[in-house]
Amino acid sequence: MRTVNVGLVGFGNIGSALAETLQRDAARLERSSGVPLKLVRVADRNRGRNRRSLRDPGILTTDISKVVRDPGIDVVVELIGGVPDARRIVMGSLAAGKHVVTANKHLLSEHGGEIVRAAARRHLLVGFEAAVCGGVPLIKALREGLIANRIRHVLGILNGTTNFILTRMSETGMDYADALAEAGRLGFAEPDPRLDVDGWDTAHKASVLAWLIFGQTLPSSRFRVEGIRSISREDMTAAERLGCRIKLIAVLSEEKGRLWLGVHPALVPSVHPLADVRNEFNAVYLEGDLTGPLLFYGRGAGKKPTVSAVISDLVDIGAHILRGERTVIGSVPAVSIRGLSDPGEFKTEYYLRWKVADEPGMIGRITACLGKAGVNIASVTGAPSGTGLGRVEIVTGLSREGQVLKAVKAADRIPGVRSKGRLLRFERGLVG
Ligand code: HSE
Repeated sequence: MRTVNVGLVGFGNIGSALAETLQRDAARLERSSGVPLKLVRVADRNRGRNRRSLRDPGILTTDISKVVRDPGIDVVVELIGGVPDARRIVMGSLAAGKHVVTANKHLLSEHGGEIVRAAARRHLLVGFEAAVCGGVPLIKALREGLIANRIRHVLGILNGTTNFILTRMSETGMDYADALAEAGRLGFAEPDPRLDVDGWDTAHKASVLAWLIFGQTLPSSRFRVEGIRSISREDMTAAERLGCRIKLIAVLSEEKGRLWLGVHPALVPSVHPLADVRNEFNAVYLEGDLTGPLLFYGRGAGKKPTVSAVISDLVDIGAHILRGERTVIGSVPAVSIRGLSDPGEFKTEYYLRWKVADEPGMIGRITACLGKAGVNIASVTGAPSGTGLGRVEIVTGLSREGQVLKAVKAADRIPGVRSKGRLLRFERGLVG
């Protein structure tokens, strides 16, 4: 039987782990799937890097076109990351009639539509299981296992680095900067960790999910994205007092044909399943109309989980090639979308905090701003610090974001208010 020939572009940590696993496990994979995968060429600009992980170092080249253009290669795995070069490799491979596997969520978020159209025109497959939630087989579940469902609400912890940082801050009292340095040492962070901490890596993954679930190829620039840089020890203490943990959450939600897409640090009640997702783990909590709530959980970052996902795509594509199929399963979104929701219409409960002069009337003046904007208050706490300063904390009832922001802006201008209002959103959704 013919082999399914794999070309790899990018021979860093993940690329070399993929090569090692394929070399070691090819026979076992063939026995269990019937697909004989063979790594036939590896391209990396740095010739020396990870050379020793190859049984036959002769397959290593610095010339990427030797992978993209080789007619003997069936599938190209793109693991170089970044966008412009990765796009050239993926589009070039498709143009040369090759199937593609990529872990590149940033690329898919910005050019997913173009890539998928190019693949469909040529009856080729693009596998991207590794792009979202690493080793958790979420993409396959969405494309296959959940195909019968209408999915309207998704909450995700999609970034291991930020979840690790928030866990360390909350459980050990560690500072943000120290926790980030530790995540970097452990190898979860992106080469540019700003992608992690500013929420963009989460947004890229959410945009891939939005495409699969709602059929919308929306670049992450269309999302409202807030990261975790501003999370302080004070926020952590407040979360604990409120019986919550702070998590960087992606929210994808459809209501009456309008889509809400956002990424923000949220107060998640400790009884919520997402509150227990610790360290570099990822989780996606979604609701299918037939299945009800589902929770996917596992390692979203690191080389072994990524290799697991890439190989699952390779086996699927290999089986497709060997069967000689030309039909390509894409996403079949069951919900039709008319547009994006206005961010001001986002509805949740809010935690607000100000530093204030410790004087009579401060709570009254601040709560008056909320009342005037039509924001219902659930609780108010005032705490003097003994230094002439105090803290006012408010939890609102279910409110529209536009009204809350208006109230916060007005309260920020009150004489005696000494800090801009701190705002955190609660996320209580989908429980039960
Ligand atoms: N930097 C990413 C994370 C790696 O921390 O989740 C996986 O995409």
